Amino acid sequence: DFPLKLSENLFSYTLLMCSLCFGYIFTFVTLREWVAVESDSIQPRLRPEITRMMELVAKRLSALGATVKMINMNFPQILDGQSIPLPPFILAELGNDIQKATVCFYGHVDVQPAKKEDGWKTDPYILTEKDGQFQEKSSMPVNFKFIIEGMEEAGSLGLEELIKEENESFFSNVDYVVISDNLWLSNTKPALTYGTRGNACFSVEVECCEKDLHSGTFGGIIHEPMTDLVALLDSLVNSSGHILIPGIYEDVASLTEEEKKLYEPIEFDLEEYKNAIGVKRFLYDTKEEILLHLWRYPSLSLHGIEGAFHGPGIKTVVPAKVIGKFSIRQVPHMNISKVEQQVISYLEEVFSKRNSPNKLKVTMPIGALPWVADVNDTQYKAARRSIKRVFGEDPDLIRDGSTIPVARMFQNITRKSVMMLPIGAADDGEHSQNEKISRYNYIQGTKLFASFFLEISNLHG
Ligand SMILES: *[C@@H]1O[C@H](CO)[C@@H](O)[C@H](O)[C@H]1NC(C)=O
Ligand SMILES: *[C@@H]1O[C@H](CO)[C@@H](O)[C@H](O)[C@H]1NC(C)=O
Ligand SMILES: *[C@@H]1O[C@H](CO)[C@@H](O)[C@H](O)[C@H]1NC(C)=O
Ligand SMILES: *[C@@H]1O[C@H](CO)[C@@H](O)[C@H](O)[C@H]1NC(C)=O
Ligand SMILES: *[C@@H]1O[C@H](CO)[C@@H](O)[C@H](O)[C@H]1NC(C)=O
Repeated sequence: DFPLKLSENLFSYTLLMCSLCFGYIFTFVTLREWVAVESDSIQPRLRPEITRMMELVAKRLSALGATVKMINMNFPQILDGQSIPLPPFILAELGNDIQKATVCFYGHVDVQPAKKEDGWKTDPYILTEKDGQFQEKSSMPVNFKFIIEGMEEAGSLGLEELIKEENESFFSNVDYVVISDNLWLSNTKPALTYGTRGNACFSVEVECCEKDLHSGTFGGIIHEPMTDLVALLDSLVNSSGHILIPGIYEDVASLTEEEKKLYEPIEFDLEEYKNAIGVKRFLYDTKEEILLHLWRYPSLSLHGIEGAFHGPGIKTVVPAKVIGKFSIRQVPHMNISKVEQQVISYLEEVFSKRNSPNKLKVTMPIGALPWVADVNDTQYKAARRSIKRVFGEDPDLIRDGSTIPVARMFQNITRKSVMMLPIGAADDGEHSQNEKISRYNYIQGTKLFASFFLEISNLHG
């Protein structure tokens, strides 16, 4: 059995996730050492710590007999006009038996900023209890590959370029790509993730003049940019959550009977979800409707207005230029360029009806694509069997309403089967204070990976 002793309240989830998939193949796991590294990718001053983390990972992989390459991408991050070099990436291989399936793990070993003062009960970088070790006895049922980065929390800089560069080499013999970087939907029932929504972010700029004006001097005689902008933003979505942009739902994949069936057994407590954030009522009433609208239908959210007066008190200013920010969570098979055009022409039309002399500019600075996999794919079958074996029940087949660009990135570039295999429970508090993983999830998770390797080697044609 697995002798690792862990406290309930632990440490960086992300690091743990990586350690998890490595757990099975590492002869000696020293989590304490990994957790102690402040590999925070948000604060540039800690960049050397990420490099140190990557070196620790490389050392472990090499000790196992893996071939390890540290790749430096010539892709500096520009922050406040300063160029900060990226930490290296790791590409590693363990085993190359052409009779066996090759499973490639994507993982990242960077974390978001965390301090005890943020409300952690223990130092987030200190593993509270004893670390341990375990021995692997039988031979590996699959070949392993690893692609590890240290900049995920800061936007995976350089990763897409690396995957493209390595497509014909490192990825050429990969059969399956596995990502373990998300959570179950429930606190107790395991899940497998087969889709994520994309996101198209928009800026709507309305400008009247060069300088801000005073409402006493100009109020009542001009077309105010903020009034135009609020009307534009209000035209996007109605109070039932329906997006009002013509044609926007045209390409949304229609819901099949098979797909509908996946929603029925999902364990999801609507009341608890509601209470957790303190809202009285959702836009929909049933579990199925809520999950469908969270995962496989688009949504539009308003995020903010740049240039507007904000803060306490009263300021009778008329801002000269305001920029509204909103985004559309996209789903298969919406076409991002088409969405962009639909949004622009709709807002221009709404604006023209206002007969305002102000300048309007609508842009889409960021667009990330959605991702969806076939739940009947070989590696999903293997994962479902393994989950049943290790946890004694079938997993919830879930999607994620947020955007996880790596899944789509791997799928689009390599054209390989991509799966997200989460180990953490819904209440792990990913990225927040006292983020943790339970001993149960950790240990069962490790067994799950072991079982998955065996199942995939059986099913792999
Ligand atoms: C929002 O739009 C949808 C689709 O046209 C419609 O069914 C719904 O009744 C509208 N909601 C409101 C509050 O107008
Ligand atoms: C997966 O395959 C099973 C068995 O062939 C089938 O019943 C089910 O509808 C399929 N599910 C989806 C979502 O395609
Ligand atoms: C997406 O939409 C653009 C613009 O409407 C069009 O040119 C392009 O062919 C579409 N792409 C796909 C894959 O349908
Ligand atoms: C997929 O990758 C290709 C080649 O790298 C890129 O040009 C394209 O924009 C990507 N398309 C999608 C839909 O992700
Ligand atoms: C990457 O390689 C695969 C074959 O392994 C190929 O199908 C795919 O088109 C390649 N991707 C790009 C962007 O060239």
